[in-house]
Amino acid sequence: MQHNVLILDFGSQYTQLVARRVRELNIFCEIFPYNNPPADLSSYKAVILSGSPFSVRAEDAPHPDLSQIRGKLPLLAVCYGAQYLAHFNGGEVAPSNIREYGRANLAYIKEGEPFFEGVNLNSQVWMSHSDTIKKLPDGAVRLASTKDVENAAYKIEGEITYAIQYHPEVYHSSDGKQMLENFLVKIAQVPQNFTPNSFVEDIVEELRVRLGNDKVVLGLSGGVDSTVAAVLLNRAIGSNLYCIFVNNGLLRKDEFQNVLHQYKDMGLNVKGVDASDRFLSQLAGIDDPETKRKTIGRVFIEVFDDEAHQITDVKWLAQGTIYPDVIESVSVKGPSATIKSHHNVGGLPDFMKLQVVEPLRMLFKDEVRRVGATLGIDPELLGRHPFPGPGLSIRILGDITPEKVRILQEVDHIFIQGLKDHGLYDKVWQAGAILLPVNSVGVMGDERTYEKVVALRAVESTDGMTADWVHLPYDFLMKISNEIINKVKGVNRVVYDISSKPPATIEWE
Ligand code: XMP
Repeated sequence: MQHNVLILDFGSQYTQLVARRVRELNIFCEIFPYNNPPADLSSYKAVILSGSPFSVRAEDAPHPDLSQIRGKLPLLAVCYGAQYLAHFNGGEVAPSNIREYGRANLAYIKEGEPFFEGVNLNSQVWMSHSDTIKKLPDGAVRLASTKDVENAAYKIEGEITYAIQYHPEVYHSSDGKQMLENFLVKIAQVPQNFTPNSFVEDIVEELRVRLGNDKVVLGLSGGVDSTVAAVLLNRAIGSNLYCIFVNNGLLRKDEFQNVLHQYKDMGLNVKGVDASDRFLSQLAGIDDPETKRKTIGRVFIEVFDDEAHQITDVKWLAQGTIYPDVIESVSVKGPSATIKSHHNVGGLPDFMKLQVVEPLRMLFKDEVRRVGATLGIDPELLGRHPFPGPGLSIRILGDITPEKVRILQEVDHIFIQGLKDHGLYDKVWQAGAILLPVNSVGVMGDERTYEKVVALRAVESTDGMTADWVHLPYDFLMKISNEIINKVKGVNRVVYDISSKPPATIEWE
């Protein structure tokens, strides 16, 4: 794999965004924590220093050793990085007496400076710091100022070292991407050769060499990541890839059969294992959400292990891990606290003792989709909404019975199909239905009913960390509600969830 740009992370909330912007320029980049950088820098063509929640003046602030970087590789220091370079090289950083947070406009740009090519005066930039650079470091030339921030950007003469106090990576810096492109492409001359096609070529070759004639087992979930990982591995090692697709009885209506067919059509060597009864019998009587997740996790490992043992001499376990999970697990701050037990990554059970191969570990989600498209995977499969590993179990509040699963599958199917039929599916990040543990009174014909309530939930989001409920058209909601109540026996009331995350979560359990 090529190594083009190194991003040293000082713990900024925006570091992943820097990486995404760089990738959007078709440039490969990797994030490393400042305290654990790569030992060998010879394959890197430029380095970016991220921002940080720290003040450079704090004793416990990150103090990286830049002796192998500064003056040797093109360097762009953002926010904390810019202040760090100033503070320790003859400049001065002090608390700012005005608020340097939010939108600002470039009031001065040094003429003829390639970093600002194509950027006009007044261009909006996003500031986010409480310290400010009062005096530039030795050898520095000011490149830009805003009304309040005199040293908004500088460079060091005689080096390819640039520093900016604002964040080019955030959307509110309107020419941020242009500045990153100027720095990386025009100034540092980093090649723009990281495309879905080049990724596929490189990774397939790498997997071929690494895996040779070994057998690999992979658990397919029906989701985008495991599917793309499987197709890549299949290209590399063909039928030595053994895929296992488990029906835990908590999938969407007909999903197991449909997706299994699709996998077979893709030429994957896949075995479908219907373990619905095993899961549902182990879940009987459990109403605590975390116990549900743990039970499903445990049974999945048991089922998967039984299946994996039937493949002789398997050496590798393939996983669909993607880059945000990798960054999270090596982040400056350490892995963030577990909020829901199933969100843990990797977690190879001891008894499986297989080596792990993760073809997507360098890709962001949108890149996985683009790679999937390059591989010719059905756009409908690539565009599927996220679906939780524990499936419908965490959308059935309270205990789970086969009858409740059936009801929820029917309701969910009407809702999701409705979204598709009305051209709304792709406008929604995730949608589903929740079966509530309450009965409500209704009338049907002359009869009084006392039946279940279901909630519909549709959210907009980019990563699931925050989400807004979607303002679905009333007409659509009316049609769906009528269809559910008329067609699904056991349901007499439909409500729509209008809570955002935070403070609510996307799932109800
Ligand atoms: P929450 O409910 O935490 O959901 O706002 C955020 C995203 O994560 C999914 N989710 C899960 N995915 N196992 C999963 O694989 C789980 O236990 C789980 N819980 C929530 C949820 O569907 C949403 O996309």
